[in-house]
Amino acid sequence: MSFKVTVLPAGREFPAEPGQTVLEAALAAGIVLPYSCRNGTCSTCEGRVVSGDYDAGPAPARILDADRLAQGHTLLCQARPSSDLVIEAREVRMADDIVVRKMPVRVLSLEPLASDVMEITLQLPSAEAFRFQPGQYLEFILKDGSRRSYSMACSQADDHQVRLHVRHMPGGLFTSRVFGAGAEPIKPREILRIEGPLGSFFLDPDDTRPIIFLASGTGFAPIQAMIEGMLARGDTRPATLYWGGRRPADLYRQDLALGWQDSLPGFRFVPVLSEAEPADGWTGRAGWVHQAVMDDLPDLSGHQVYACGAPVMVEAARRDFVGRCGLSPDAFHADAFTSAA
Ligand code: FES
Repeated sequence: MSFKVTVLPAGREFPAEPGQTVLEAALAAGIVLPYSCRNGTCSTCEGRVVSGDYDAGPAPARILDADRLAQGHTLLCQARPSSDLVIEAREVRMADDIVVRKMPVRVLSLEPLASDVMEITLQLPSAEAFRFQPGQYLEFILKDGSRRSYSMACSQADDHQVRLHVRHMPGGLFTSRVFGAGAEPIKPREILRIEGPLGSFFLDPDDTRPIIFLASGTGFAPIQAMIEGMLARGDTRPATLYWGGRRPADLYRQDLALGWQDSLPGFRFVPVLSEAEPADGWTGRAGWVHQAVMDDLPDLSGHQVYACGAPVMVEAARRDFVGRCGLSPDAFHADAFTSAA
């Protein structure tokens, strides 16, 4: 017997089978709720249960504050209904032709972008369309069944190819293989297995407010995809990219970002370093990247934000932009950025 889940305010309904999470059931019914990690660590899928019974699992108590828990907020990627449920959650409009699939891919090339960042280009099977919204991610399914998530650093799969940015996590099983370390380095022509596209981190086409893109490290990859999507569409919404790193090498595609200022009217790029040293000759902004946004824009009430990077940066931005700068909570979009090795 399935349970009925009703999503407010739209009032859409879908069935949930016993044991299914609310998110799994929604996606199976073609209803996209915001999500990213799917494992209870990022809070992207936070929603409020208005009525009904469910098993929340242990994750909400770990990452949601007491006030939100008391108001009935939970993580919809973890919540398993045990009765009909009524929930409040934002719905995401996904293009109709996007289908999540598992498929084999061939490694075409590995190109270092920095000493600890590698761009991998993957060849997708030509018989299968791989459509995604710029900002989404895919997962590698490793031989032991574990998964690694990476955002596409391109706005579409031109010639059935996609590019990803992989940061080296020393000692890590997967990223060490990418960087040629260990017994089995990944080489061009190797076949890997992926599932995708996944996630709800992409631009809301109906929101015309000026955009703040906020990235740290390889959180730049999905932002690159979104901005290249804007370029391809001729989308001239005002947009500013704040990209933060510790040292200049962390901003491994500055030339690209600077070039967008010439090709995209209304686009501005603000690089920010937190640990520049005199030898770097850095004359740009210094400090924490989300603080740079607040220094420039103490009132964010008329903006929307897309943030991707280290969890500590994303959480600080969410807290301060909403709590101190008047950003609407619905206008803060973030992608989980896991450092799985
Ligand atoms: Fe549910 Fe990340 S916590 S998608």
